[in-house]
Amino acid sequence: MSSVKHFLDIDRLDTKTLRAILDLAVNLKRDHIQGTSKPLFAGKTLVMIFEKPSTRTRVSFQVGMQQLGGQAVVMGESESQLGRGETVADTARVLSRYADAIMIRTDDPKKLDDLETYATVPVINGLTDSSHPCQIMADVMTFEEHRGPIKGKVVAWSGDGNNVANSWIHAAVRLGFTLRIACPDSLRPAPEILDWAASEGGDITVTDDAAHAVAGADLVNADTWISMGDADADERRRLLEPYRVDQALMDKAGPEALFMHCLPAHRGEEVTDEVLDGPQSVIWDEAENRLHAQKGILAWCLG
Ligand code: CP
Ligand code: NVA
Repeated sequence: MSSVKHFLDIDRLDTKTLRAILDLAVNLKRDHIQGTSKPLFAGKTLVMIFEKPSTRTRVSFQVGMQQLGGQAVVMGESESQLGRGETVADTARVLSRYADAIMIRTDDPKKLDDLETYATVPVINGLTDSSHPCQIMADVMTFEEHRGPIKGKVVAWSGDGNNVANSWIHAAVRLGFTLRIACPDSLRPAPEILDWAASEGGDITVTDDAAHAVAGADLVNADTWISMGDADADERRRLLEPYRVDQALMDKAGPEALFMHCLPAHRGEEVTDEVLDGPQSVIWDEAENRLHAQKGILAWCLG
């Protein structure tokens, strides 16, 4: 088995490793705030491949590398040979000769698998249509900063059973919290991931009732109703209308409940301004923690 430390998905790592990455992130954030950061990534280069748009992932990885003495190179699909048909496998072999780690944001999880197979340096999942593990590491970090250990807590999700929801499922199993997902029947997470969670003893409920999912929760999550690449926008808006997070829904959560959204938000659609900008919302801390959580991920991958 390869000894390269890839960060592909939360379910691919054990609890101890995930907790170690979160500890690294917390320590690196503290060093950054205190001005005591060391050039941990001096001489290291991260190459990032983007086949979909990004603000947070792109900038936070780039700034994170720079703050710790390394550098990042951003490669869009259309301006690279990937856009002209060079295979992911060949691209992986070449980039491994230049870079110390490769991050990819892509539609197709198969491309992530190909990178893992052919790269000889760590590969990081920067979002696929199936998952968004870097986001959930930042989200867990943010929850724990505000409310302490997430183990045993209740996390609610109201909306599409999408890539971000899938990574929440992985995290619920590995980090030991309850996850309640409210979504229309046709937008449930894939049966395979729910079966996996059940087989691992995860405490995951899927319901079509948002109020039921949110009742007494410690954290409420929303995400866009129309993810990058989704074609059926009108139908999704129709189906997801009952899952908007507004103050009335937040009021059903626990008294100390937080609100999170990975962003970008579609204000007034999946969440109201009142909630996004309200006192329970920690969305800006959550966005900031992409920077620190990914430093933790990079520090682990780069050893
Ligand atoms: N949350 C997130 O991944 O944002 P970007 O699409 O801007 O990277
Ligand atoms: N579910 C969203 C997340 C964006 C960060 C998407 O895939 O577009």
